[in-house]
Amino acid sequence: MTTRKTILAISGSTRSNSTNESILKFIKEKYSQEVNIELYTGIGSLPHFNPDLDVEPVDASVKEFRQLVRKADGVIICSPEYVFSLPGSLKNALEWMVSTIIFAKKPTALIVASGMGEKAFESLQLIMRTLEAGFTEDTALLISGARGRFDAGGKPKDEQTAQELDHAVKALISLLGH
Ligand SMILES: Cc1cc2nc3c(=O)[nH]c(=O)nc-3n(C[C@H](O)[C@H](O)[C@H](O)COP(=O)(O)O)c2cc1C
Repeated sequence: MTTRKTILAISGSTRSNSTNESILKFIKEKYSQEVNIELYTGIGSLPHFNPDLDVEPVDASVKEFRQLVRKADGVIICSPEYVFSLPGSLKNALEWMVSTIIFAKKPTALIVASGMGEKAFESLQLIMRTLEAGFTEDTALLISGARGRFDAGGKPKDEQTAQELDHAVKALISLLGH
């Protein structure tokens, strides 16, 4: 018997009506037969990272975030680009992981859905490589011109976007094993 796997989905955008969050909600619904996808919406509530605070006992919100990532079989990060980089809230959340090995070998998909997004995409891959996350070329996806490519429910409007997203999510699911 195979056990049902869980993926933690993290949106890099904390605004309401976020395209990135809606893409994650769409993925959650679309693949609900294959995998449990839990949306983590707490990045905006984590304290600003400070190495002085990164000592036991850490802040409860940090502890919870680390536990959710630790117990998930895989992670999807879906983020916009802000001023040619990652949104500060997402970067901050990832900084809380640097002193841990929680992301090491963790199957991970990295999606940047933004106006342009190249710099955030590069940066996210560099950060996640540093955390030794288990992402591959197949689970990393840049979607430029994102607003025009999804409807309000996060559903791709065109076949190419649908296929690219499907390829990345299926590649992540195959990394989860049985
Ligand atoms: C402060 C700010 C800076 C932005 N800078 C960039 C940028 O450098 N590159 C880019 O592609 N989009 C940039 N954008 C546009 C957003 O990435 C784009 O609107 C994206 O769709 C927002 O994602 P969301 O709908 O998930 O919040 C910026 C938006 C804001 C609010």
